[in-house]
Amino acid sequence: MFFLLLLCICGLLLRGDAQDRAALWRGNDRSGRCQYTFTVPSPVEASCPQTGGPEMEGLKARLSLLEVLVSRLTGGDARGPQGAGAGAQPELQEALTRAVGERNLLQGEKERLERELEGLQRRMEEMRRETEKLRNRPCPPQTPVVPPNPSLQGSGLMRPAGVSSPMSHLMTRPNRQGDSSSSLRDSAWQYASPDFQELKAEVTEVPAPDGSEDNTGCGELVSVGAPITHRKADNIEGKYGVWMQDPESVSPYGPNMVWRIDTIGSDVRKLFGYEDMNQLSKGFPSKVLLLPEPVESTGATVYRGSLYFQRRRSRTLIRYDLASESIAARRDLPHAGFHGQYPYSWGGYTDIDLAVDEQGLWAVYSTNKAKGAIVISQLDPHSLEVKKSWETNIRKNTVANTFIICGKLYAVASYTAPDTIINYTYDTETSQGKAVAIPFRNKYRYNSMIDYNLAQRKLFAWDNFHMVSYDIRLGRQQAN
Ligand SMILES: *[C@@H]1O[C@H](CO)[C@@H](O)[C@H](O)[C@H]1NC(C)=O
Repeated sequence: MFFLLLLCICGLLLRGDAQDRAALWRGNDRSGRCQYTFTVPSPVEASCPQTGGPEMEGLKARLSLLEVLVSRLTGGDARGPQGAGAGAQPELQEALTRAVGERNLLQGEKERLERELEGLQRRMEEMRRETEKLRNRPCPPQTPVVPPNPSLQGSGLMRPAGVSSPMSHLMTRPNRQGDSSSSLRDSAWQYASPDFQELKAEVTEVPAPDGSEDNTGCGELVSVGAPITHRKADNIEGKYGVWMQDPESVSPYGPNMVWRIDTIGSDVRKLFGYEDMNQLSKGFPSKVLLLPEPVESTGATVYRGSLYFQRRRSRTLIRYDLASESIAARRDLPHAGFHGQYPYSWGGYTDIDLAVDEQGLWAVYSTNKAKGAIVISQLDPHSLEVKKSWETNIRKNTVANTFIICGKLYAVASYTAPDTIINYTYDTETSQGKAVAIPFRNKYRYNSMIDYNLAQRKLFAWDNFHMVSYDIRLGRQQAN
């Protein structure tokens, strides 16, 4: 260990500023071992830190003497001492000038030495720290001082060539993690010092495409991407709202049609239609429909050519047929709280939230009987009748919003925190809920609507005037 340390220090000396002052020799002793010796300049030379003390003292003493002399000479002048004739004046003057000159020279020299001393002390400290660091780490086998052992290299136990120090591994390795999974199988990385093993652990933590992803079937939500902003509402009515695309569109509207309702106001009836996302982004609706009943909150959805929404100040659900522009069905959602009885944590009369997924139309709400816990009901999309209900054990007013994917409800913890999580999921197939922690971003810090769109395989959200979408990743398809 001491030997390695010595080598490290040698390498350091050779690389550092001290290069021109230190010398290193290598030789073989009789037992075939290498011997390394190095020298540094003699302590009497000014460049060595140890010389600072005594030599400085000497200089100071000489300076003091000179100062005494100078002051005596100048003082003598003033008082006009006996024996100092007029003829002696120029000589004295000369001596004085010389003395002052010498003094200044010495002063300069002293300052230079002091600076040099400081520099050396700093370097000593740096080297001490470097040594400390090196002591905690094995010496790189490929420093110029030690030639690589050919037998080691041949056996593949060496690190990949072209990498010169442990530090450079730490810096270059993470950059490679994303671009190819084959580098993870690089055989040169199989044999590793402790540094490498740490590094490998780090690399394998990065999620890599694993083949379990299935972009056509159902699965559990794995992750939610960063929000993409499509449009910012241009007035206060659009602070909250709902926007959606029909996953199973019906003529005359195609699958690209985007629908939007700004939901601030006491008489929300305007339904804007845009040809596609691009037109939404530009803010050019191709259709504006005036609904026959006012809409409450942000729970509306579109499905198979109908807009479904909760009628204001009621538990009445309405199916509005987009083609005929008329109400096709209306029905009360039994016992559902409304108008601020069981909203999500952000309030806003979000008592009844409608959702569409692969399995059809859903309502998420609560009832007195459920005492504020989230109730999920599957609805008949034609008649709005409840087909089946599930009662979860999570209180509706503790979560910011919910959405349903493949029959599973997901709850978002916060509507304001820019970095929050989806912290709860409930599976209607097994009637089981569980805690999860899937990161979710509220970019604009006031997320009032989140819905899954199964055609786009995205989440659509309305975050503080902004219509945003999120890519999602679902896990392995389940057998069903
Ligand atoms: C989810 O987060 C909300 C808000 O922080 C909290 O009230 C609720 O208890 C959490 N739910 C679970 C299942 O952790």
